[in-house]
Amino acid sequence: MLINYRLLLASRPVGIPGPENFTTDAIPARPPGAGEVLLETIYLSVDPAMRSWMSEGTGYQQGIPPGEVMRGGGIARVLESRSENFSDGDLVQARLGWQSHPTIAGRYLQKLDLALGTVEDWIGPLGLSAVTAYFGLRDIGQLRPGDRVLVSAAAGGVGQIAVQIARIEGCRVVGIAGGPEKCAFVAGELGAEAAIDYKAETNLSDAIARACPEGVDLYFDNVGGPTLDAALEHLRENARVVLCGRISQTHAAEPYGVRNLNRLAAAHGRMQGFLVFHYHDRYDEARAWLAARRRDGSLRQKLHVLEGLDQAPIGLGMLFRGENTGKLVVRLPERP
Ligand SMILES: NC(=O)c1ccc[n+]([C@@H]2O[C@H](COP(=O)([O-])OP(=O)(O)OC[C@H]3O[C@@H](n4cnc5c(N)ncnc54)[C@H](OP(=O)(O)O)[C@@H]3O)[C@@H](O)[C@H]2O)c1
Repeated sequence: MLINYRLLLASRPVGIPGPENFTTDAIPARPPGAGEVLLETIYLSVDPAMRSWMSEGTGYQQGIPPGEVMRGGGIARVLESRSENFSDGDLVQARLGWQSHPTIAGRYLQKLDLALGTVEDWIGPLGLSAVTAYFGLRDIGQLRPGDRVLVSAAAGGVGQIAVQIARIEGCRVVGIAGGPEKCAFVAGELGAEAAIDYKAETNLSDAIARACPEGVDLYFDNVGGPTLDAALEHLRENARVVLCGRISQTHAAEPYGVRNLNRLAAAHGRMQGFLVFHYHDRYDEARAWLAARRRDGSLRQKLHVLEGLDQAPIGLGMLFRGENTGKLVVRLPERP
């Protein structure tokens, strides 16, 4: 009998989430009904936003009720289809949940176009983290060749793509990341002109001044808090600040009050947030651009792969401790 292994939300986390917030169960996989598809999960994406889904509903989506399967997106193979749109063996992406063999209505699945990239490309540089970087830089940030671009959490899933898009578009890019290995990755493999190890700096603003002596035209903010304040001090005329995420504030007891908004006004700058889901209708555009850069070799990716469903809760905690380099994913073993 085919078993569906599942991770259920057991408790709402206090602080960084971990295995203690989940229970595992194993139930018979449900045969597909009319219009449904039985799937075998291959990859699950692990994302900081999942932390907010584990709460009561303070984020941009309803909180997951305790006892339910943890919400999450990923890539799967079709094992059995009762949808006319899918055949056995098709590769799809969907909101699978943290489970090995979900049964999902065909209308919620998107077939992977393998002409655009491999399965690993679809969970990485064609996945939502990469699409986030694309729209954040281009639509919100109005990226222009020659811009001096600063990216925080530059060695992470979104950050690694943001650094490279800006570089490919002819910008001078500086990344901020935690630790010498991540900085070597940002300045080496990703091709940034410099990388700032914020954990080694006593004054981040001074470090930005040294790395960006002419100032910053576009700050792509994945972190929020004092890092945002430090970046605001270096804005050039007509600068753009892209509020992509504020991971440093996820577990803050008190919301951080940004102090340097006067610098935004002085620079005649603009600061705007966004959610990638607002661009749903244009994902294909982003993926076509990203796939072309994969093909010509200019866009690299680093996947940080954890093996096995039980690693997903550990992986989620790793994001908040800075223990991942590149896009964090969980790979599930193939069915024997
Ligand atoms: N707007 C959207 O639609 C959208 C979509 C996807 C993601 N996001 C946001 O984009 C950001 C990056 O997401 P991701 O999936 O690519 O994660 P990620 O960057 O792969 O992983 C998170 C990274 O954040 C850094 N970090 C963690 N805690 C920190 C702290 N207290 N201070 C400074 N840095 C900290 C760590 O890197 P270091 O070791 O370098 O500190 C860690 O590796 C997140 O803020 C996320 O919420 C937004």
